[in-house]
Amino acid sequence: MTAPPDKRPPDVGVGPWAGEWPTDDRLDPELLREGDRRNVVDGYRYWLHDAIVADLDARRHEFHVAVENWGHDFNIGSVIRTANAFNAAAFHIVGKRRWNRRGAMVTDRYQHEHHHADAAALATWAHAEGLAVFGVDNLPGSVALETFDLPRACVLVFGQEGPGLSEPMRAHCEAVLHIEQFGSTRSINAGAAAAIAMHAWVRRHVFDQRP
Ligand SMILES: C[S@@+](CC[C@H](N)C(=O)[O-])C[C@H]1O[C@@H](n2cnc3c(N)ncnc32)[C@H](O)[C@@H]1O
Repeated sequence: MTAPPDKRPPDVGVGPWAGEWPTDDRLDPELLREGDRRNVVDGYRYWLHDAIVADLDARRHEFHVAVENWGHDFNIGSVIRTANAFNAAAFHIVGKRRWNRRGAMVTDRYQHEHHHADAAALATWAHAEGLAVFGVDNLPGSVALETFDLPRACVLVFGQEGPGLSEPMRAHCEAVLHIEQFGSTRSINAGAAAAIAMHAWVRRHVFDQRP
């Protein structure tokens, strides 16, 4: 009789370090010994968590990401994961302090998390930091993200499934930007919208040569 196939997923990451250990104080002896199965890019394999955060800190972008959290929206985690991928300056949770971390896949631990009780608190903080606040939603009066010249220093605010951006948040935004749609659905998933908006910032300020 043949053995049943092994249905376990293959291990991700790398196993214990083979051979003589490197001398680099950014490396974690425990990871070198046990292997590194974390969700990090290959260049950070075996690095201490704090060393990774310090390295990211040295090259974070100037845009911030904020999400309204009134209903424990499961999309928030996905937004926060993308904020990590594009190395946002920080992410901001507006409303309830506890948020649904599941989709973040632990990426939040490599970022700086801020909490604001409401839209006014976020706006006050952003103003003090010299950051323009832009809502991202397809609402009456919103303007097309595709042709809008996003400033380098800004906060991109996302709403949640169902209601979208709250009225108070809209009132605090310099403008609300929409992603053009061509189909029949009212909106795209908030996580997908956040990825498009962050990438618009990256295209404008990392790849575009205009000042
Ligand atoms: C379900 S949508 C909000 C509802 C939408 N305003 C409506 O009229 O049905 C949830 C969030 O996803 C984002 N989003 C979805 N589609 C978008 C689009 N086409 N442009 C910009 N943001 C969008 C926004 O941040 C929005 O607050």
